[in-house]
Amino acid sequence: MKDPVSSSAGDTGDNDVLRIAILISGRGSNMEAILKRRMTMPKVRVVCVISDNPSAKGLQIAKNFDIDNLYLDPGPYKTKLDPAAEQRYIEYLISKKADLICLAGFMRLIKDSFLSAFPGRIINIHPSLLPKFPGLNAQKQALEAGEKVSGCTVHFVDSGIDSGSIIRQRTVPILERDNPDKLASRILKEEHILYSEIIKEISQKKIRIG
Ligand code: GRF
Repeated sequence: MKDPVSSSAGDTGDNDVLRIAILISGRGSNMEAILKRRMTMPKVRVVCVISDNPSAKGLQIAKNFDIDNLYLDPGPYKTKLDPAAEQRYIEYLISKKADLICLAGFMRLIKDSFLSAFPGRIINIHPSLLPKFPGLNAQKQALEAGEKVSGCTVHFVDSGIDSGSIIRQRTVPILERDNPDKLASRILKEEHILYSEIIKEISQKKIRIG
């Protein structure tokens, strides 16, 4: 049976509904956390989940939630979409009337033409207190730098690596015997809270987007 929460209102032209698309590359736990909390976000509709990786675990999770989900070929590059792929992504997102694009472990840089198709409407979550430790292995970077506190950041996306303006952060302490995995799992719990909180506030117009 089709999930009435995820699939209905936006299609009826309800302007008050925030239609979000979630882009993933792998596990999809942030996406799952958003889907689990969507009953608490009456003005949010998850209109699709897109992956650049056909075997992303998150695609199956989205399917289990009866959310429109698909693999979209990213083209030949590893860290970005090629121009034809970018066009495929943009066209699909426009066809779904997405208001907000949420990157959740999507492992590619978003370039200018993609950004200008959705100005100020693409956000990302990152497992560090940006501007510290952008890029890969953020938790390991924080440990190696001897930090006492780390956390996660939701930020607007620009064409740099995790460099767009910060929306909000949550912190976690770094413990004496931490290792990257332990720290990552403590940060991840905070990510799961933070991302939904921000999306909800955007839907309530407490946070403004482009
Ligand atoms: C998260 O740590 C997120 O902050 C980072 O990539 C990871 C994705 O995890 N951008 P998941 O796929 O949401 O489980």
